Amino acid sequence: MSKKRVLSGIQPTSDSFHLGNYLGAVKQWVDLQETHDAFYCIVDLHALTVETDPKLLRKRTLTSAAQLLALGISPEKSTLFVQSQVPQHNQLGWIMECMAGFGEASRMTQFKDKSSKAGADAARVGLFTYPMLMAGDILLYQTNLVPVGEDQRQHIELTRDIAGRFNSKYGETFAIPEGFILKQGAKIFDIQDPTAKMSKSSGSGAGLIDILDTPEVNAKKFKSAVTDAGREVKFDLVEKPGISNLLTIHAALSGKSIADLENEFAGKGYGDFKGAVAEVVVEYFRPIRAHALELLQDEAHLISILHKGSEKARSVAQITVDKAYKNLGIVL
Ligand code: TRP
Repeated sequence: MSKKRVLSGIQPTSDSFHLGNYLGAVKQWVDLQETHDAFYCIVDLHALTVETDPKLLRKRTLTSAAQLLALGISPEKSTLFVQSQVPQHNQLGWIMECMAGFGEASRMTQFKDKSSKAGADAARVGLFTYPMLMAGDILLYQTNLVPVGEDQRQHIELTRDIAGRFNSKYGETFAIPEGFILKQGAKIFDIQDPTAKMSKSSGSGAGLIDILDTPEVNAKKFKSAVTDAGREVKFDLVEKPGISNLLTIHAALSGKSIADLENEFAGKGYGDFKGAVAEVVVEYFRPIRAHALELLQDEAHLISILHKGSEKARSVAQITVDKAYKNLGIVL
Protein backbone atom coordinates (compact mmCIF):
# COMPACT_ATOMS: atom_id res chain seq x y z
CA MET A 1 0.00 0.00 0.00
CA SER A 2 1.30 3.42 -0.81
CA LYS A 3 2.17 5.80 1.99
CA LYS A 4 -0.25 8.47 3.06
CA ARG A 5 0.65 11.97 2.07
CA VAL A 6 1.46 14.65 4.60
CA LEU A 7 1.80 18.34 3.82
CA SER A 8 2.62 21.28 6.02
CA GLY A 9 3.91 24.79 5.61
CA ILE A 10 5.89 27.30 7.63
CA GLN A 11 6.16 31.03 7.01
CA PRO A 12 9.61 32.57 6.58
CA THR A 13 8.84 35.40 8.96
CA SER A 14 11.63 35.19 11.53
CA ASP A 15 15.40 35.18 11.64
CA SER A 16 15.35 31.95 13.60
CA PHE A 17 12.84 29.30 14.51
CA HIS A 18 12.14 29.28 18.22
CA LEU A 19 11.90 26.32 20.54
CA GLY A 20 8.10 26.32 20.24
CA ASN A 21 8.29 26.08 16.43
CA TYR A 22 10.62 23.12 16.75
CA LEU A 23 8.90 21.15 19.51
CA GLY A 24 5.41 22.14 18.37
CA ALA A 25 5.82 21.48 14.66
CA VAL A 26 9.13 20.74 12.97
CA LYS A 27 10.02 17.83 15.26
CA GLN A 28 6.77 16.11 14.23
CA TRP A 29 7.55 16.83 10.58
CA VAL A 30 10.86 15.03 10.98
CA ASP A 31 9.12 12.00 12.51
CA LEU A 32 6.35 11.94 9.90
CA GLN A 33 8.78 11.76 6.98
CA GLU A 34 9.70 8.24 8.14
CA THR A 35 6.20 6.88 7.74
CA HIS A 36 4.57 9.22 5.22
CA ASP A 37 5.11 10.72 1.81
CA ALA A 38 5.90 14.16 3.16
CA PHE A 39 5.73 17.55 1.44
CA TYR A 40 7.05 20.50 3.42
CA CYS A 41 6.69 23.97 2.08
CA ILE A 42 8.22 27.32 2.98
CA VAL A 43 5.16 29.49 2.39
CA ASP A 44 6.73 32.73 1.24
CA LEU A 45 3.57 33.86 -0.56
CA HIS A 46 1.72 33.73 2.73
CA ALA A 47 4.44 35.89 4.28
CA LEU A 48 3.56 38.63 1.79
CA THR A 49 0.17 39.15 3.40
CA VAL A 50 1.79 41.63 5.77
CA GLU A 51 4.38 44.32 5.03
CA THR A 52 7.71 42.63 4.21
CA ASP A 53 11.22 43.83 3.57
CA PRO A 54 12.67 42.21 0.42
CA LYS A 55 16.11 41.60 1.94
CA LEU A 56 14.56 40.04 5.01
CA LEU A 57 12.18 37.85 3.04
CA ARG A 58 15.06 36.44 1.03
CA LYS A 59 17.24 35.92 4.07
CA ARG A 60 14.45 34.35 6.08
CA THR A 61 13.45 32.00 3.29
CA LEU A 62 17.00 30.68 3.06
CA THR A 63 17.40 30.57 6.83
CA SER A 64 14.17 28.61 7.15
CA ALA A 65 15.41 26.11 4.58
CA ALA A 66 18.78 25.75 6.30
CA GLN A 67 17.12 25.19 9.66
CA LEU A 68 14.66 22.62 8.33
CA LEU A 69 17.54 20.66 6.80
CA ALA A 70 19.69 20.98 9.93
CA LEU A 71 16.78 19.89 12.13
CA GLY A 72 16.48 16.68 10.15
CA ILE A 73 14.17 17.21 7.19
CA SER A 74 15.85 15.06 4.59
CA PRO A 75 15.54 16.02 0.92
CA GLU A 76 15.70 12.31 0.10
CA LYS A 77 12.79 11.38 2.34
CA SER A 78 10.68 14.52 1.99
CA THR A 79 9.88 16.99 -0.73
CA LEU A 80 11.12 20.28 0.70
CA PHE A 81 10.23 23.28 -1.44
CA VAL A 82 9.39 26.95 -1.69
CA GLN A 83 5.77 27.82 -2.39
CA SER A 84 6.48 30.63 -4.88
CA GLN A 85 8.62 28.27 -6.97
CA VAL A 86 5.52 26.20 -7.66
CA PRO A 87 3.15 28.51 -9.55
CA GLN A 88 0.40 25.90 -9.34
CA HIS A 89 -0.20 27.28 -5.82
CA ASN A 90 -1.34 30.55 -7.36
CA GLN A 91 -3.40 28.72 -9.95
CA LEU A 92 -5.29 26.57 -7.48
CA GLY A 93 -5.43 29.45 -5.01
CA TRP A 94 -7.58 31.40 -7.44
CA ILE A 95 -9.88 28.43 -7.95
CA MET A 96 -10.23 28.16 -4.17
CA GLU A 97 -11.13 31.84 -3.93
CA CYS A 98 -13.86 31.24 -6.48
CA MET A 99 -15.21 28.31 -4.46
CA ALA A 100 -15.22 29.95 -1.03
CA GLY A 101 -18.13 32.03 0.11
CA PHE A 102 -17.46 35.59 1.20
CA GLY A 103 -19.39 34.86 4.37
CA GLU A 104 -17.43 31.75 5.28
CA ALA A 105 -14.12 33.50 4.58
CA SER A 106 -15.27 36.40 6.77
CA ARG A 107 -15.70 34.01 9.69
CA MET A 108 -12.00 33.04 9.82
CA THR A 109 -10.94 34.03 13.32
CA GLN A 110 -7.28 34.40 12.41
CA PHE A 111 -8.20 37.00 9.78
CA LYS A 112 -10.39 38.81 12.28
CA ASP A 113 -7.58 38.89 14.86
CA LYS A 114 -4.85 39.90 12.46
CA SER A 115 -6.87 42.49 10.58
CA SER A 116 -8.12 44.10 13.76
CA LYS A 117 -4.52 44.36 14.95
CA ALA A 118 -3.43 45.94 11.66
CA GLY A 119 -6.48 48.20 11.52
CA ALA A 120 -9.15 47.56 8.88
CA ASP A 121 -7.57 49.95 6.38
CA ALA A 122 -4.04 48.62 6.75
CA ALA A 123 -5.07 44.97 6.40
CA ARG A 124 -4.50 43.65 2.91
CA VAL A 125 -6.78 41.71 0.63
CA GLY A 126 -4.17 38.93 0.68
CA LEU A 127 -4.68 38.57 4.41
CA PHE A 128 -8.34 37.93 3.72
CA THR A 129 -7.69 35.40 0.95
CA TYR A 130 -4.85 33.72 2.89
CA PRO A 131 -6.99 30.69 3.92
CA MET A 132 -7.94 30.00 0.31
CA LEU A 133 -4.28 30.02 -0.75
CA MET A 134 -3.63 27.64 2.13
CA ALA A 135 -6.50 25.39 0.99
CA GLY A 136 -4.84 25.30 -2.42
CA ASP A 137 -1.48 24.38 -0.84
CA ILE A 138 -3.07 21.38 0.78
CA LEU A 139 -5.39 20.18 -1.99
CA LEU A 140 -2.75 20.47 -4.75
CA TYR A 141 -0.94 17.44 -3.36
CA GLN A 142 -3.97 15.22 -2.67
CA THR A 143 -2.90 15.50 0.96
CA ASN A 144 -4.26 13.08 3.55
CA LEU A 145 -2.81 14.60 6.71
CA VAL A 146 -1.94 18.18 7.66
CA PRO A 147 0.12 18.56 10.84
CA VAL A 148 -0.60 22.01 12.25
CA GLY A 149 -1.13 23.78 15.53
CA GLU A 150 -4.52 24.34 17.10
CA ASP A 151 -4.64 27.87 15.63
CA GLN A 152 -4.95 26.40 12.12
CA ARG A 153 -7.90 24.12 12.86
CA GLN A 154 -10.43 26.45 11.29
CA HIS A 155 -8.38 26.76 8.10
CA ILE A 156 -8.29 22.98 7.77
CA GLU A 157 -12.07 22.82 8.22
CA LEU A 158 -12.50 25.41 5.48
CA THR A 159 -10.21 23.38 3.21
CA ARG A 160 -12.26 20.24 3.83
CA ASP A 161 -15.51 22.12 3.17
CA ILE A 162 -14.27 23.58 -0.09
CA ALA A 163 -12.85 20.24 -1.26
CA GLY A 164 -16.08 18.40 -0.48
CA ARG A 165 -18.17 21.01 -2.23
CA PHE A 166 -15.93 20.98 -5.30
CA ASN A 167 -16.00 17.19 -5.49
CA SER A 168 -19.76 16.97 -5.29
CA LYS A 169 -20.32 19.72 -7.80
CA TYR A 170 -17.60 19.04 -10.36
CA GLY A 171 -16.74 15.39 -9.75
CA GLU A 172 -14.11 13.67 -7.63
CA THR A 173 -11.04 15.92 -7.79
CA PHE A 174 -9.45 16.34 -4.38
CA ALA A 175 -8.60 14.03 -1.50
CA ILE A 176 -10.28 15.32 1.66
CA PRO A 177 -7.48 16.08 4.13
CA GLU A 178 -7.52 15.51 7.86
CA GLY A 179 -5.97 17.92 10.30
CA PHE A 180 -3.38 16.38 12.57
CA ILE A 181 -3.54 18.82 15.43
CA LEU A 182 -0.33 18.64 17.35
CA LYS A 183 -0.74 17.42 20.89
CA GLN A 184 -0.69 19.48 24.06
CA GLY A 185 2.65 18.09 25.23
CA ALA A 186 4.22 19.79 22.25
CA LYS A 187 3.00 23.17 23.42
CA ILE A 188 5.83 25.29 24.71
CA PHE A 189 5.27 28.41 26.78
CA ASP A 190 7.26 31.60 27.15
CA ILE A 191 9.94 30.99 29.80
CA GLN A 192 9.35 34.41 31.35
CA ASP A 193 5.57 34.21 31.17
CA PRO A 194 4.58 30.55 31.26
CA THR A 195 0.89 31.32 30.81
CA ALA A 196 1.54 32.60 27.26
CA LYS A 197 2.49 30.43 24.31
CA MET A 198 6.11 30.88 23.21
CA SER A 199 5.71 33.22 20.29
CA LYS A 200 7.61 35.85 18.41
CA SER A 201 4.74 38.30 18.50
CA SER A 202 4.21 38.31 22.25
CA GLY A 203 6.53 38.65 25.19
CA SER A 204 9.77 40.56 25.51
CA GLY A 205 12.15 38.19 23.80
CA ALA A 206 13.69 37.15 27.10
CA GLY A 207 11.16 34.34 27.29
CA LEU A 208 11.71 33.17 23.72
CA ILE A 209 14.46 30.72 22.79
CA ASP A 210 15.73 31.10 19.25
CA ILE A 211 17.49 27.99 18.07
CA LEU A 212 20.06 29.99 16.09
CA ASP A 213 21.00 32.15 19.06
CA THR A 214 24.41 31.46 20.56
CA PRO A 215 24.68 28.84 23.31
CA GLU A 216 25.71 31.62 25.71
CA VAL A 217 22.60 33.71 25.08
CA ASN A 218 20.29 30.74 25.44
CA ALA A 219 21.98 29.36 28.55
CA LYS A 220 21.59 32.76 30.17
CA LYS A 221 17.90 32.95 29.28
CA PHE A 222 17.25 29.57 30.89
CA LYS A 223 19.14 30.51 34.01
CA SER A 224 16.84 33.49 34.45
CA ALA A 225 13.67 31.62 33.50
CA VAL A 226 10.70 32.36 35.72
CA THR A 227 9.94 29.70 38.32
CA ASP A 228 7.10 29.28 40.76
CA ALA A 229 6.39 29.38 44.46
CA GLY A 230 7.67 26.41 46.45
CA ARG A 231 10.91 24.59 45.76
CA GLU A 232 10.04 21.17 44.44
CA VAL A 233 10.60 20.25 40.80
CA LYS A 234 7.13 18.84 40.10
CA PHE A 235 4.91 18.87 37.05
CA ASP A 236 1.80 20.85 37.93
CA LEU A 237 0.37 23.10 35.24
CA VAL A 238 -1.85 25.03 37.62
CA GLU A 239 0.46 25.63 40.58
CA LYS A 240 3.78 25.43 38.73
CA PRO A 241 3.41 26.53 35.13
CA GLY A 242 7.04 27.71 34.90
CA ILE A 243 8.59 24.49 36.21
CA SER A 244 6.13 22.40 34.18
CA ASN A 245 7.16 24.15 31.00
CA LEU A 246 10.83 23.58 31.77
CA LEU A 247 10.10 19.91 32.50
CA THR A 248 8.30 19.59 29.16
CA ILE A 249 11.25 21.13 27.35
CA HIS A 250 13.83 18.96 29.10
CA ALA A 251 11.81 15.78 28.53
CA ALA A 252 11.21 16.53 24.86
CA LEU A 253 14.90 17.06 24.15
CA SER A 254 16.53 14.58 26.53
CA GLY A 255 14.02 11.81 25.88
CA LYS A 256 13.61 11.26 29.64
CA SER A 257 10.15 10.99 31.14
CA ILE A 258 8.73 13.74 33.33
CA ALA A 259 8.52 11.26 36.23
CA ASP A 260 12.22 10.37 35.89
CA LEU A 261 13.11 14.03 35.85
CA GLU A 262 11.05 14.70 38.98
CA ASN A 263 13.00 11.91 40.69
CA GLU A 264 16.33 13.08 39.41
CA PHE A 265 15.75 16.58 40.80
CA ALA A 266 14.04 15.58 44.04
CA GLY A 267 15.63 17.55 46.87
CA LYS A 268 17.56 19.80 44.48
CA GLY A 269 16.67 23.44 44.03
CA TYR A 270 15.23 25.28 41.08
CA GLY A 271 18.67 26.69 40.30
CA ASP A 272 20.20 23.28 39.65
CA PHE A 273 17.23 22.28 37.58
CA LYS A 274 17.37 25.40 35.41
CA GLY A 275 21.09 24.82 34.85
CA ALA A 276 20.33 21.30 33.69
CA VAL A 277 17.60 22.47 31.31
CA ALA A 278 19.97 25.09 29.90
CA GLU A 279 22.58 22.45 29.25
CA VAL A 280 20.18 20.02 27.57
CA VAL A 281 18.83 22.71 25.26
CA VAL A 282 22.19 24.22 24.41
CA GLU A 283 23.83 20.87 23.67
CA TYR A 284 20.86 19.72 21.61
CA PHE A 285 20.97 22.74 19.34
CA ARG A 286 24.74 23.29 19.22
CA PRO A 287 25.37 20.94 16.26
CA ILE A 288 22.09 21.92 14.60
CA ARG A 289 22.99 25.59 14.73
CA ALA A 290 26.47 24.86 13.36
CA HIS A 291 24.99 22.82 10.52
CA ALA A 292 22.43 25.49 9.63
CA LEU A 293 25.10 28.21 9.61
CA GLU A 294 27.28 26.02 7.41
CA LEU A 295 24.44 25.50 4.93
CA LEU A 296 23.95 29.26 4.79
CA GLN A 297 27.58 29.71 3.79
CA ASP A 298 26.87 28.15 0.40
CA GLU A 299 23.70 29.76 -0.88
CA ALA A 300 23.99 28.30 -4.36
CA HIS A 301 24.03 24.79 -2.96
CA LEU A 302 21.13 25.50 -0.60
CA ILE A 303 19.08 26.99 -3.43
CA SER A 304 19.84 23.98 -5.62
CA ILE A 305 18.37 21.70 -2.93
CA LEU A 306 15.21 23.83 -2.91
CA HIS A 307 15.05 23.85 -6.71
CA LYS A 308 15.07 20.06 -6.75
CA GLY A 309 12.25 19.91 -4.23
CA SER A 310 10.23 22.54 -6.08
CA GLU A 311 10.65 20.68 -9.35
CA LYS A 312 9.24 17.53 -7.83
CA ALA A 313 6.41 19.51 -6.21
CA ARG A 314 5.52 21.12 -9.57
CA SER A 315 5.18 17.77 -11.28
CA VAL A 316 2.82 16.46 -8.60
CA ALA A 317 0.87 19.73 -8.40
CA GLN A 318 0.35 19.97 -12.15
CA ILE A 319 -1.64 16.73 -12.15
CA THR A 320 -4.15 18.23 -9.71
CA VAL A 321 -4.37 21.53 -11.56
CA ASP A 322 -5.11 19.69 -14.81
CA LYS A 323 -7.77 17.60 -13.13
CA ALA A 324 -9.43 20.59 -11.47
CA TYR A 325 -9.29 22.68 -14.66
CA LYS A 326 -10.70 19.84 -16.75
CA ASN A 327 -13.53 19.22 -14.31
CA LEU A 328 -14.35 22.92 -14.33
CA GLY A 329 -14.64 22.92 -18.10
CA ILE A 330 -11.46 24.85 -18.73
CA VAL A 331 -10.09 24.02 -22.18
CA LEU A 332 -6.67 22.43 -21.74
N1 TRP B 1 -1.10 29.13 7.90
C1 TRP B 1 -0.05 28.28 8.37
C2 TRP B 1 0.54 28.89 9.64
O1 TRP B 1 0.56 30.07 9.80
C3 TRP B 1 1.04 28.12 7.34
C4 TRP B 1 0.56 27.38 6.13
C5 TRP B 1 0.37 27.87 4.89
C6 TRP B 1 0.23 26.00 6.09
N2 TRP B 1 -0.03 26.88 4.05
C7 TRP B 1 -0.14 25.74 4.74
C8 TRP B 1 0.20 24.98 7.04
C9 TRP B 1 -0.54 24.46 4.35
C10 TRP B 1 -0.19 23.71 6.65
C11 TRP B 1 -0.56 23.46 5.31
O2 TRP B 1 1.03 28.14 10.47
